[in-house]
Amino acid sequence: MRSRPARPSTARATSPAGSPSSTGSISPLRSAGTTRKPPALSTSRPAFAPNSAPQTSSSSRPDAGGPYTRRVPRTERGYRCSSCGWTTVAYVGRCPGCQAWNTLEPFAEAPRGTAASRRPGAAAPAASLVRLGDVEGDTAERHATAIPEFDRVLGGGIVPGSLILVGGDPGIGKSTLMLQAAASLARGGLRVACICGEESPRQVRMRAERLGVADAPVDLIADPSLDAALAAAESAGVDVLVVDSIQSVTVEGLESRAGGPAQLAEAGARLLAFAKGTGTATLVTGHVTKGGEVAGPKLLEHLVDVVLYFESAEGGVLRLLRAVKNRFGATDELGLFEMTGAGLQSVENASAAFLAPHAPGASGCAITAVIEGSRPLAVEVQALAVPSALAAPRRIAAGIEPARLHLLLAVLARRGGIPAGALDIVASVSGGLRLRDTSADLAICLALASAIHDRPLPAGTAFLGELALSGAVRPVHQANRRLAELARLGLRGAVVPAGTAAVEGLQLTRVASLADALERVGLSGLPVRAVPHHDALQQPQRGEQADQ
Ligand code: TYD
Ligand code: MG
Repeated sequence: MRSRPARPSTARATSPAGSPSSTGSISPLRSAGTTRKPPALSTSRPAFAPNSAPQTSSSSRPDAGGPYTRRVPRTERGYRCSSCGWTTVAYVGRCPGCQAWNTLEPFAEAPRGTAASRRPGAAAPAASLVRLGDVEGDTAERHATAIPEFDRVLGGGIVPGSLILVGGDPGIGKSTLMLQAAASLARGGLRVACICGEESPRQVRMRAERLGVADAPVDLIADPSLDAALAAAESAGVDVLVVDSIQSVTVEGLESRAGGPAQLAEAGARLLAFAKGTGTATLVTGHVTKGGEVAGPKLLEHLVDVVLYFESAEGGVLRLLRAVKNRFGATDELGLFEMTGAGLQSVENASAAFLAPHAPGASGCAITAVIEGSRPLAVEVQALAVPSALAAPRRIAAGIEPARLHLLLAVLARRGGIPAGALDIVASVSGGLRLRDTSADLAICLALASAIHDRPLPAGTAFLGELALSGAVRPVHQANRRLAELARLGLRGAVVPAGTAAVEGLQLTRVASLADALERVGLSGLPVRAVPHHDALQQPQRGEQADQ
């Protein structure tokens, strides 16, 4: 069995030495790391009392002649995998759920407050009924963070009493955004506290200095025990609580390690009870593991009010914050940030950030406009076609669904007369954006056609339209908003589906089919120039034309 995680030395930063308490300590950000030395590791703290469960260790397990014959002690309910949460009544060396070795740990009674902990037959107190019309409406004001893109994604600000999960890969900028938001809210007059489980107050202070918010009246709680930290936050009467991260806090009384599924689920339930019970807006960060493991914040998505995910373009400074669930605003809303030396900056002109400047006359580039959340965004589809050395040429797509790319290549071959069978195809979207709707079909097809023929598309022209398998160009929704955005960015023309209404400042070319569009941009009836490598080696022996 794994040993209980050691309590960091900062955990008792302001408590008198040796004074046992179940309330976490709060230290103001302004004093963190500057006036106090980190105290020595305290070992005098007793086990957390309220939810303590009988402790077991591997040495105390009854061992009756091998792992498969072990019996569950009377005080235990069974064994739970600390990695994936799989449970069994009998001990086994390898978890049948995730195949990890030696991860099963005994668990006793379920922690208090969960349904499982109620004794069968125990009479529950009767719940009360409330008439729908008597329920108070949404009169609470939102707390605006004054970070424009964060407020946009939240739907106008943080709703008091809401539980918000901010997920994303490690290092993407979750802690940075949380600290910037906490500082901004605190400067606005709210009482804000941060449970900093991942970093010491000294590290948070250094980050705050870098962000220029070290003077903000934010309180830090450096106790990894969630109950102690929540008790401290409640007694301090905080308006906004930040938990960074949920994987780093520990629910005492559970056997699994911090960040394990049992810990995450219980921590999520307690944070929800805290947020709803005290009316405190609670922001929680959570790491998404690369393999999408069960221990990620996916477990918490159904529990919380708002789920935001941080994404980044590969290697770029752009950060996309997307609302995948929002009980108080629009889902799929997108916030755009740039990671700078002084933290995350909101990107106001989002389209300009996505329209990468490219060499004039470059082939394979087609501009289109997509609707991301509530705003139109201009993006560029880029494609490259090279003769393939492989029998099965490669298709590499970034930001475009591979299945969609295959489909569009098929439509281009059959309806546009431009086959790409012997070519390696690379297609991507500028800025690292993932195309979600089909309105970019025409732009993708024309970028591919332009790349295959190595001829640029007309400069200053954008392309809108969904493609049917028949090659017909279908209308797109909110076409006028997309076209207005393109006109604002200085584009001069657009190839659009038939029936699209005129927009001031743009010369529209209405097309009914892909073949029609290819003809309008001068890409129809051209010979296919690229030659497959293996055919090029064989064709001269057969005396065939190399460019057909
Ligand atoms: P961080 O917020 O710690 O990520 P997370 O909490 O999601 O793990 O961000 C860490 C990255 O951001 C790190 O690579 C350094 C970079 N960074 C900046 O570029 N500028 C800054 O001002 C800050 C604070 C961080
Ligand atoms: Mg962090």
